Amino acid sequence: MGEPHPTPTAPQAPKLRATALTRTFGRSPKTVHALGPVDLDIAPGEFTCIVGPSGCGKSTLLRIAAGLLRPTTGELQIRTASPRPAAMIFQDYGIYDWKTVLANVRFGLDIQRVPRREADARARDWLARMGLADFAGAYPATLSGGMRQRVAIARALAVEPEILLMDEPFAALDAQLRTILQDELLDLTQTTSTTTLFITHSLEEAIVLGDRVLVMSARPGRIIAERRPPFGRPRSGDVRSAPEFTALKSELWELLRGEVRREAVPA
Ligand SMILES: Nc1ncnc2c1ncn2[C@@H]1O[C@H](COP(=O)(O)OP(=O)(O)OP(=O)(O)O)[C@@H](O)[C@H]1O
Ligand SMILES: [Mg+2]
Repeated sequence: MGEPHPTPTAPQAPKLRATALTRTFGRSPKTVHALGPVDLDIAPGEFTCIVGPSGCGKSTLLRIAAGLLRPTTGELQIRTASPRPAAMIFQDYGIYDWKTVLANVRFGLDIQRVPRREADARARDWLARMGLADFAGAYPATLSGGMRQRVAIARALAVEPEILLMDEPFAALDAQLRTILQDELLDLTQTTSTTTLFITHSLEEAIVLGDRVLVMSARPGRIIAERRPPFGRPRSGDVRSAPEFTALKSELWELLRGEVRREAVPA
């Protein structure tokens, strides 16, 4: 027998791989077991959504993926082809109050040493796409919550990251703007090879955007189910009115409901 032949359909190596990942906080006897064990592979270009009850460890998982937090046990590997970083949009925005809106959006580009003129142009382009063209020179303190959130989104997208980590990025936005930005994100991720890990409390949002929707249990958060919305790519926001959409939303809510209750009323 010779060497095994690689099969032509062999899946690509994952962009992100979590192996037996756990995280606890604090010291015994007050230890909080926040997350895991979690095993997860995310393929290049895949859009993965995570839903789960409050406090189940979703942000913890994303912070580990962003390299901001170390796992307690297990590991999380990220494979990128270029030096472009993973970009993270925080649940609480994470924008700098002492920088102007333009400087905030340019921040990641400055770190990448993109020439000033090009960085300014790209940052202004993203501000315009977020409806913030007139606020380039403003300071974040003078903006509404939804506008601040859009600054954070523009900052992350401006670096055109290989891996985009988004923690409830649209939670603070009104319903109309949220729909518009979901559609923008669909466009963006379908026209680039971005790999996205997206946390949301909205089942609709997860179904519109995701190739996969992962459901997490109450703390310590584990992945208890996975569903693939039955819509091809490229897709548009029109899937919101498909009968399969409503059916999947009910199914996901059935899966989630017990976990939300368990979190709210611990045994
Ligand atoms: N730095 C920390 N120190 C101590 N405990 C923490 C820390 N970060 C998170 N935790 C705890 O870990 C658990 C998971 O928190 P996490 O923020 O990951 O939840 P989440 O799923 O993102 O919740 P939400 O949906 O409300 O944002 C919570 O019990 C939280 O109190
Ligand atoms: Mg969170």
